Parts: sequence; structure tokens; C-alpha cells
Amino acid sequence: MPTSKPPQSLFVWTWLPGDTTPVVAGRLIERSGRVDFVYGESYLRRDNAISLYRPELPLGPGLIAPLPGLDLAGSIRDGSPDAWGRRVIDSRLGVGDLDLTELSYLIASGSNRFGALDFQTSPTRYVPRDETATLDELHEAAIMVEEGRALPQPLAEALIRGTSIGGARPKALLADGDGTQWIAKFSSSSDTHFSVPNAEGATMILARHAGIDVCDVRVTSSLGREVLLVRRFDRTASGGRIHAVSALTMSGESEMGARYVTYPQILNVLTRLSGSRMPVGPALFRRIVFNVAVSNSDDHARNHAALWDGEHLRLSPAYDLCPGPRSGQTAEQAMAFGRSGIRTSTFHAAISVAAEYGLSTSDARSVVDDVVSAITDHYAEAADQARLSEADRTAMLGRQFLNPGVWHGLPTTFALPASTAASPSPDQGSGEGD
Ligand SMILES: Nc1ncnc2c1ncn2[C@@H]1O[C@H](COP(=O)(O)OP(=O)(O)O)[C@@H](O)[C@H]1O
Ligand SMILES: [Mg+2]
Repeated sequence: MPTSKPPQSLFVWTWLPGDTTPVVAGRLIERSGRVDFVYGESYLRRDNAISLYRPELPLGPGLIAPLPGLDLAGSIRDGSPDAWGRRVIDSRLGVGDLDLTELSYLIASGSNRFGALDFQTSPTRYVPRDETATLDELHEAAIMVEEGRALPQPLAEALIRGTSIGGARPKALLADGDGTQWIAKFSSSSDTHFSVPNAEGATMILARHAGIDVCDVRVTSSLGREVLLVRRFDRTASGGRIHAVSALTMSGESEMGARYVTYPQILNVLTRLSGSRMPVGPALFRRIVFNVAVSNSDDHARNHAALWDGEHLRLSPAYDLCPGPRSGQTAEQAMAFGRSGIRTSTFHAAISVAAEYGLSTSDARSVVDDVVSAITDHYAEAADQARLSEADRTAMLGRQFLNPGVWHGLPTTFALPASTAASPSPDQGSGEGD
């Protein structure tokens, strides 16, 4: 917990591949707002030491400055709280009299953070900050933060431990009976168009039908409201942690520069650091087409990630796939998908850049057809599984899902499914991603 004086230095601990306990990897040192990193000698002496992310933090002695334009290495920043987490921490610590720095947020947030890093004040003793609570308790605490109410102890402690995971929406971290770790995403008072947990759940399920590697999801309820559970991709079944970086980190851009990051830029990095002979272009292209098809225009650089094994990067399962509010037929993706900067949310625009992803025009057209039929064929089933209400599923088909605008420029007509009704024998109980 930070005091009124922000820390000048913190120790970075990491989980080496296959290990279930962390080791100290190095130290962060802040000077005038810039945070440098140095690997520890004990870490460098380990046979199994890996670089935390070679493009920024190559393994070796000496102080490493952040890349030009950054105040802190992106791979470290990825483990820091985002808008939601900072809001919880601010509400808990009371901003105003405190001058919270990046290191303050790193040490105030919980240990169960993105990827395989944690931050500690000691280089020799690892003390996890990972108190948790039931889903209902965490949910109640999240509602209180949203409503600007003071959090009672020990709810505050439990919720604050979940702040290390990023994003802007209210959320908490949860483990189930067998230790599987989930991110619980709650509804928000600003959700006025449709029920976001259900719509996001249905979209994630549709993504799987569309051939995308996507995180497992479940929809459940708590305190009478719907909650989406997303299974974590950065945890192993045995309790280990997998290193991961956001696409923002891959791009080398700062938060301010995030809007200039493009899909081709990410493709370049993934290709350069890939350990596989399977090209990543087609998988990325399919995600772009899917995002266009479901009006997910929030596909920014923190909503894509890759797993890092010390040598290679691999695109992570997809997450945070959710339709946005949509009026009319024109829209744009958050990240440009063509080197020319094109980001228009149409299949035609996506197909026009297919070659950049190693696909021919007819391959790209097949991807579009695949994605469209996955959505039309499985819409009712996915909506059932995610418990999307009748009203939402009807209103969203042809608006968020397969808006007519996505066909602009293509000489195609297509039919939306005749019915969005729940199938005769809907899944009982909690909906479940397949
Ligand atoms: N399944 C997951 N496994 C591991 N980390 C995840 C997963 N889903 C999201 N994250 C991390 O948590 C952050 C916030 O989650 P996200 O679903 O994007 O929430 P929000 O809707 O608030 O943006 C992401 O930017 C990513 O770093
Ligand atoms: Mg997000």
C-alpha cells in the first residue's frame, strides 16, 4: 500500500516458464518520471532465466531505459492497473492528497496481474497481495465504486486486489473450485443500449464458431444482474503464469500513440518473433473480419495480446469482443487494418488489404463467408447460451451483428436469419461458451 510518498524503486518478480513460484528478476528505478529497469545479478545467473520481453528488456547487465517515447517499458506497464483499476485504487486511497505515480499503482494493485510479473518492495521475500472474496461481494464492491460510495473493509481489500487487471469496465478476479481463473466482467451504469455481459458473451461464443481462437466464457448472475466470466489465457492449469504483452507494447507506442497503432504493425512484430511456421496473417485477418461483422469497433491495441515464452510471441486467444452502440451504416475500426491507414468497417475494405495478411482476394472472401455463416447459423444458439434477452437479440441483429453497412462495396445480398428466437430446448442454467 503506498504511503503519501510514492516509491522510487520496486522489485520485479516473475514466474519462469513451468514454475509455480516467482523469483526476483530485477528492479524498477524511477527518476524524474522515467522508470528504468535493471536485471538482478541472481536472476542473470539462473540457467533458465528468460528476457521479460526481449524487444524492450533484453537479458543482460546494466540499466535499461524505456524505448524512446515511453516512461516505462510497455511490458511492465501491461501489468499495471488501467482505468477501472485506477478508479478503485483512487477511491480507496483518496486521491488529492496523494500524488500517485506509476510505481504507486504497481504496488497498490493486487499480485494476480496480467502475464507473469508482480511488483514487491523486497528482493528476497515475496508477499502476494491477493485477498479475494465471493463473486457477490466483489460485485457489490464494484457497484459501490461505480456509485461513488465509500468501500467498507474488507471488501475494499478484496476489490483492490483485482485492480491489477486492465480495462475500463467494472471487473474482478475470481478462481473457481478447481483453481481455474476467470475475469468477472460486470454490467456498468453506462450500459444503456443493451446488456453488455450477455452481448459480449454471445459475441465470444460466435467468434469460436467463426474459427477464432477465443477465451472460454460463461454467463452467470450475481445480485440479480448478469455477469460475464472470461477464462484467463495467462494462467496454466498447474498454477503457473504465462508471460504476455499487449499489442500496444508490441507496437512500441505510448498510451498517447495508441490510436496510431495498426494491425499490420502488430502482424509484423508477431511474424518477426514467431516461433511457428504457421503464418499469423490469416488468423489476424479473420479477427478483423469478425470485428467488422459484429460492430466491435473497440479493437484497440490493448484489446489484442500475445504470449511470450522468452524467445517467441504467439497471438493470444481473443478477448473483449463486444459490439459497440451503433447508429447508421458507417463505422470505423479502432485500429487501421491496412498499411494505407484504411479502417472502414466494411468487408470490402478488409478484402482490399487481404494480400497484406498473405491471403488472395478469394481466400479473403471465403473468410467473410465463413464468418457471416457462423453468425447467421449460430446466432440464436449463442444468444441462448449467453442469455441475451429477446429484446436485445432482436434489436442487435442487423444493427450490431451484420449491419447492412458492412456489405457496402460488395455485390452481395444476404439474408439475416428469419428468427432470433430461443431454440426450443435452450441451455438450462448458466450459459456456457463451448
Ligand atoms: N482472458 C484473459 N486472460 C488474461 N488477461 C485478460 C483476459 N481478458 C482480458 N485480459 C486483460 O485484462 C484487460 C481488461 O480486460 P477487457 O476484457 O479488455 O476489459 P474492458 O472491457 O474493461 O476493456 C485486457 O486489456 C487484458 O490485458
Ligand atoms: Mg478492453
